[in-house]
Amino acid sequence: MRDAAPQTIYLKDYTAFGWQINHVALHFVLDPHKTRVRSKIEFVPNADAPAQRFFLHGEALNLVWARIDGQDINVTLTHEGLTCDVPTGPFVWESEVEIDPKGNTALEGLYMSNDMYCTQCEAEGFRKITYYPDRPDVMAVFTVTIDGPHPVLLSNGNPVSASKDYAEWHDPWPKPAYLFALVAGDLVAHPGSFTTKSGRNVDLNLYVRPGDEGKCAFGMQALKDSMKWDEDVYGREYDLDLFNIVAVDDFNMGAMENKGLNIFNSSAVLASQATSTDTNFERIEAIIAHEYFHNWTGNRITCRDWFQLCLKEGLTVFRDSQFTSDMRSAEVKRIEDVIDLRGRQFAEDQGPLAHPVRPESFQEINNFYTATIYEKGAEVIRMLKTLVGDAAYAQAVTLYFDRHDGDAATIEDWLKVFEDTTGRDLAQFKRWYSQAGTPRLKVTEEWQGDTLILTVTQSTPPSASTPDPQPFVIPIAVGLIGADGTEIQATTVLEMTQATQSFSFTGLAGRPAASILRGFSAPVVLDHAADHAHLLAYDTDPFNRWEAGRTLARNTLLGMILKGTRPDPAFLRGLRAVVTDDLLDPAYRRLMMALPAQSDLATALHDAGHVPEPDIIHAALEALRDAVARELADVLPALYADNQVTAPYAPDATQAGQRALGNSALSLLTRSDGGKLAQAQYDNADNMTQQLAALANLIRAGRGEAALNAFELQWKDDRLVMDKWFGLQVIEADPEDAHEVAEGLTGHPDFKWKNPNRFRAVFGSLIMNHAGFHHASGAGYKLLADWLIKLDPVNPQTTARMCSAFQTWKRYDNDRQALIKKQLNRILSTPDLSRDTTEMISRIVQA
Ligand code: ARG
Ligand code: ZN
Repeated sequence: MRDAAPQTIYLKDYTAFGWQINHVALHFVLDPHKTRVRSKIEFVPNADAPAQRFFLHGEALNLVWARIDGQDINVTLTHEGLTCDVPTGPFVWESEVEIDPKGNTALEGLYMSNDMYCTQCEAEGFRKITYYPDRPDVMAVFTVTIDGPHPVLLSNGNPVSASKDYAEWHDPWPKPAYLFALVAGDLVAHPGSFTTKSGRNVDLNLYVRPGDEGKCAFGMQALKDSMKWDEDVYGREYDLDLFNIVAVDDFNMGAMENKGLNIFNSSAVLASQATSTDTNFERIEAIIAHEYFHNWTGNRITCRDWFQLCLKEGLTVFRDSQFTSDMRSAEVKRIEDVIDLRGRQFAEDQGPLAHPVRPESFQEINNFYTATIYEKGAEVIRMLKTLVGDAAYAQAVTLYFDRHDGDAATIEDWLKVFEDTTGRDLAQFKRWYSQAGTPRLKVTEEWQGDTLILTVTQSTPPSASTPDPQPFVIPIAVGLIGADGTEIQATTVLEMTQATQSFSFTGLAGRPAASILRGFSAPVVLDHAADHAHLLAYDTDPFNRWEAGRTLARNTLLGMILKGTRPDPAFLRGLRAVVTDDLLDPAYRRLMMALPAQSDLATALHDAGHVPEPDIIHAALEALRDAVARELADVLPALYADNQVTAPYAPDATQAGQRALGNSALSLLTRSDGGKLAQAQYDNADNMTQQLAALANLIRAGRGEAALNAFELQWKDDRLVMDKWFGLQVIEADPEDAHEVAEGLTGHPDFKWKNPNRFRAVFGSLIMNHAGFHHASGAGYKLLADWLIKLDPVNPQTTARMCSAFQTWKRYDNDRQALIKKQLNRILSTPDLSRDTTEMISRIVQA
């Protein structure tokens, strides 16, 4: 059945479901095209809910029969499910449906990847498995039996019994249907175990396809580290005898926190020295932690409805970033997070897809798994912690766990525990959840005698979802650096609540440099004409020291782009001082060397009222890289040599930082040596970080062909590595030919476009090649639109997600806007376009 006209769902319309569920029994008889699902659900009227007609969600199901209390019944099938008459008291619902996992290319519900069965139910996939109240506030205990000719048959919870071709599972913890999971296949387990702080033994398994056994050890260790960390830092213990993770090749997202049975995109869990980069290792560790942490923030306490998604996602992202900070380097992680936030969330907040951290309406919830809900959601919690302090944060979170364990909770519940523990009124703070848009902070300084007065003005651009933004509560962490470079005021947090406010520092011997928004204490755009060169040299806050360098880099790039000025010598000198400072962590120095992305410059230009021209941005970045390479020419060979790791490979932060710094030096050296050093590195690489960095440089030097062929030959049987091969060629392509490179790759026999990782490898990379995607001919736009139209009927979720490539279209010149508009209209007028893609493109077009 096709979707009906898209319906908008509103937060304000929430009503409780009319029944509670005592127990659910599911029985699966697996078959690729004809899987049978029998359900037995014990419903009890919910006295707290308004009277309503009984309705169960169901999509793409063939109903075989339905019974209530053992009697066959008639049901009315609707677009989205079924209704029927039910008794006034408790009753038992039973049904059998037939579904087609192999025909399920949307990868939502029960589907097949290679020859294995797996599920993805968040947000609304369970309704594609059986008729059910598929909403997160209906929590139930599940018993699952699986009948299928597979050596491994898994579901949530603890195993009850297993024999050949049959397994029974019981999950004692009530859960919403979106946390249901089932896996069946010919898998091998990489086992492990963990003893919890109260002494219980938990069996751990990482299930993979035969052949991937060698890529499990790191993920297993990351899981144990996560379990330990959550006990140590949040006091949270695991609550089943078993924790399973399964790696799946075809997956729309990174991973999923199903109770006791996490399912992962294989790219987010499989790791080895030969096949994974240091960046992959760090990401894998973070995602394993993220999904594990959901066991408390998401599963034990879930969301009342999908408008509350940030309740679990913002908090869990915040927790996984704390974990990574503890495992690796806090300052490096903070900088990485801010780069990511600015690149993805700020772009979203400044365009037609802007929405509050807690949206008030949606059509397709899958379109709201966004940077705003995840990453800005985490920033909001970080601010809350900054405002109340670490001790009160810990107390409030403990109260949250105590008070809401077993609940489907709301943002109100979350804020209330902070109000109750601190006595604070968080009504104004709550605007961070209800108002879209990135606030601008304009800071001006006045120096009077011995007093520095900072006057701060906040303003938030209005958007469709927040036409009249009111002032936010903004924690502004400030420190002062004296003229001699010493810190004369340690970090202090100013609490801004008004549209304009002044803050004074008195008793100062001389005028200091103000270091504002230390640690990026709030997700805002800061406009402050500071002495950035001085701060780059002396700021004691590592984030702001990096930020000073970034601001100088951005300013010099804007000058080059807008006025044709030459690279700022103060920036080059400052950079040199930091990069050659051996006392600084290599990972940090490497972040200092990285220049803003092309898309970040487009954002900055747009913010300043200019029309970004992708080719000019690209050219300016190249020119600045040349200037940096010249400035550092005498130190680069040593920087490269000193950062070659001689110890056996380990994916830890120390080695990763060294390799990253060495590879930054390599890419500058490649600009003048024609790729000689890169070729040597390629030939000697014993790990993927070094091999891939060398390959990228060879491509940039225009001599990538031989290495690309060798790489393909070496890795043709490894899907994850081949994703890198596809992606790198597009990312590193000259913008003039990027669309042709991408198009050429779509003709490669291994371009398995129905696999989301492979599709993203080519088209995600095309989008990242900013000047290439925005080629003046419009060829990049057309190519992407062609493929989105092709993918939509197969996989709406991945299609819709990639539509965000067009979200910034109004920034560009009229010609580009017209070219993009044409493609947006073409997509929108495609017959039977999915609800997901229709919603995304409609919102983008309305800009
Ligand atoms: N809860 C999962 C996670 O954050 C992601 C689920 C994404 N679901 C979706 N429909 N996009 O780890
Ligand atoms: Zn999550």
